[in-house]
Amino acid sequence: MVNLRQAISGFSIIVSLLLPPASHVQEVDPPTKSVAIVGAGSAGLAILKSLLDLPEDTRKGWDIVLYEQRRDVGGIWLPDPNPAQPPELPETPLYPLLHTNTPVPTMTYPGFPFPPNTPLFPSHEHVEQYHRDYANHFSLVPYIRLNHTVLSSSWIGNSTDGVWKVVVQDHNRNKILKEHDHLIVANEHNHIPRIPKFTGQDKWLRSSPRNGPKREILHSIWYRGPERFRDRSVVVVGSGNSAQDVTSQVCLTARRTYHSIRNHSAPPVVTDVIVKPEISHFTSTSIVFVDGSIVSDADFIILGTGYELRIPFLEEGYELAVKPEAHTNETYREGLVTNLRYLFPLHQHIFSLSPSYPTNALAFIGLLRNTSHCPSNIAQSVYVAHAIANASLLPDREDLLQQLAASEKRLYSLGYDPYYLGHSLLKWFQFDYQDNLKTYLQKHGALPEDGKKFVEGWRREAPDFQYLKRGWKRVEDLGTQPEWLGGIITEEDWAGLLRRLNDWQGRWEKEHGLVYPAGLISY
Ligand SMILES: Cc1cc2nc3c(=O)[nH]c(=O)nc-3n(C[C@H](O)[C@H](O)[C@H](O)COP(=O)(O)OP(=O)(O)OC[C@H]3O[C@@H](n4cnc5c(N)ncnc54)[C@H](O)[C@@H]3O)c2cc1C
Ligand SMILES: *[C@@H]1O[C@H](CO)[C@@H](O)[C@H](O)[C@H]1NC(C)=O
Ligand SMILES: *[C@@H]1O[C@H](CO)[C@@H](O)[C@H](O)[C@H]1NC(C)=O
Ligand SMILES: *[C@@H]1O[C@H](CO)[C@@H](O)[C@H](O)[C@H]1NC(C)=O
Ligand SMILES: *[C@@H]1O[C@H](CO)[C@@H](O)[C@H](O)[C@H]1NC(C)=O
Ligand SMILES: *[C@@H]1O[C@H](CO)[C@@H](O)[C@H](O)[C@H]1NC(C)=O
Ligand SMILES: *[C@@H]1O[C@H](CO)[C@@H](O)[C@H](O)[C@H]1NC(C)=O
Repeated sequence: MVNLRQAISGFSIIVSLLLPPASHVQEVDPPTKSVAIVGAGSAGLAILKSLLDLPEDTRKGWDIVLYEQRRDVGGIWLPDPNPAQPPELPETPLYPLLHTNTPVPTMTYPGFPFPPNTPLFPSHEHVEQYHRDYANHFSLVPYIRLNHTVLSSSWIGNSTDGVWKVVVQDHNRNKILKEHDHLIVANEHNHIPRIPKFTGQDKWLRSSPRNGPKREILHSIWYRGPERFRDRSVVVVGSGNSAQDVTSQVCLTARRTYHSIRNHSAPPVVTDVIVKPEISHFTSTSIVFVDGSIVSDADFIILGTGYELRIPFLEEGYELAVKPEAHTNETYREGLVTNLRYLFPLHQHIFSLSPSYPTNALAFIGLLRNTSHCPSNIAQSVYVAHAIANASLLPDREDLLQQLAASEKRLYSLGYDPYYLGHSLLKWFQFDYQDNLKTYLQKHGALPEDGKKFVEGWRREAPDFQYLKRGWKRVEDLGTQPEWLGGIITEEDWAGLLRRLNDWQGRWEKEHGLVYPAGLISY
């Protein structure tokens, strides 16, 4: 491997000759800060807005820049018109048939609802446009550098003082080297597929029957629609949202569809799908499952096995160690580690507690799972913006490490392993987590007391609405969307719509004696 630190420092000599000397800045204003954000998806836009929302006096003279490698904002919701083929990675896992799997009013930034007449579970274009609208509405665009890929980032300094040296590739020009005081990573973890390797799979792949199609194994990041699977016999692996969605689409074209999931006593997501347990191994002719059952007619495996939590530009800069087996807090005093599911040690899933730099030097927005992204991104972003403005808001690293140890201990005591759970919040805790961030800032005088929790009451109700997806499907079948969506403008209107639809469908299912297991998608 190349020694990147050497490469960078050699490179910086060249670059520093090209850049205007920083000493030209007149120091009449209070000391300025330079803040870099990586990624213009939901999370990146949230932190950019929150920094700009700081009082004018506070952020006067700050240099704020957001680097986004793609041609526009929106993150995963921005389509990739020419997706790369394996082993090259596409820019996004988005596929043309993707609809949101959560009701869209719950996916909003606080105070910025979707436009009137947006379907409740819209196709991806609506969410893409929503992000563009947000960036335009709050004048974020001038701060965003599109077509700029962050290649590497290293801290040059010590635990109290220093600077990030960030190598950025401008797609139109050469690499540039920038210095920033604060680095905010908003690039999520849906980019690097987790690809398990099963014993015997290569032999199986090489042994396609002469009279049949060529056997294939493909991760869902490359999935673009069901047509490719027409008349194939497919095994979809995994029980996450992508695997469920892919299964429900593929079974419409495939000759046969199997769904391999850990808990195979759970009901199938759709009829016409044969549920199997986890794959044990492959033979030259068949797939063998852990219960000993065998499938011999399959010719395509789709791996809906999720993504690895990796941040390539921090790994390049030697700021993040990849240790798939790491499973204890032993490394906490050394630096930042990912075990591919969990990034640690972090304060509140946000600030790196690595001893190499100050605790507000490196922040992550949007690592959380099991929670609505846009609102929780804002809760985290406001916290980060204030902690950058005033480092004294955060307790000492030692205190924060103690807090982290206490929260891990609590998870163990509830029967969860924090190193496996990673950044999933327990269902009941997701709203308190966001409220706590706001309350902390209020207690320490950074935000005024306004008598309101961060999470609006109606958002807390939403997870209990079991019937929305099937209810909306029935509305679409009846063609009555205009009646439901008419006059729905404000957040409260949307909340009322969710309540009414949920009641309407719940009553109907009870009247008809329908019982659906939790999580069942019906198409
Ligand atoms: C297929 C799919 C469906 C989903 N459906 C839903 C849903 O229905 N409801 C829901 O709530 N959530 C859903 N999610 C979760 C979704 O990831 C979040 O809703 C949210 O959009 C994530 O935003 P983000 O900003 O954190 O990350 P992303 O959208 O991934 O944005 C990260 C950005 O960082 C950029 N970037 C990365 N590395 C670099 C670099 N080195 N230099 C410069 N730029 C970089 C990327 O180009 C990207 O634009 C879905 C996810 C997937 C994969
Ligand atoms: C970004 O690159 C695309 C080509 O990939 C180009 O069409 C677009 O104009 C570029 N945008 C900017 C702002 O440079
Ligand atoms: C960090 O570096 C700065 C500037 O070089 C120096 O003043 C300070 O004492 C150093 N701090 C520590 C903890 O070494
Ligand atoms: C598996 O799913 C069934 C049916 O939904 C459920 O009753 C059971 O508790 C689940 N088992 C595990 C180990 O999750
Ligand atoms: C690791 O966890 C243990 C038990 O929770 C705790 O006592 C200890 O202080 C932690 N160590 C570090 C380095 O955080
Ligand atoms: C995350 O959400 C899913 C779906 O709502 C749920 O099945 C799972 O139990 C949740 N995980 C945790 C840790 O709460
Ligand atoms: C910074 O935060 C500390 C701790 O809450 C507080 O005492 C101090 O007044 C704050 N400083 C400014 C400039 O707001």
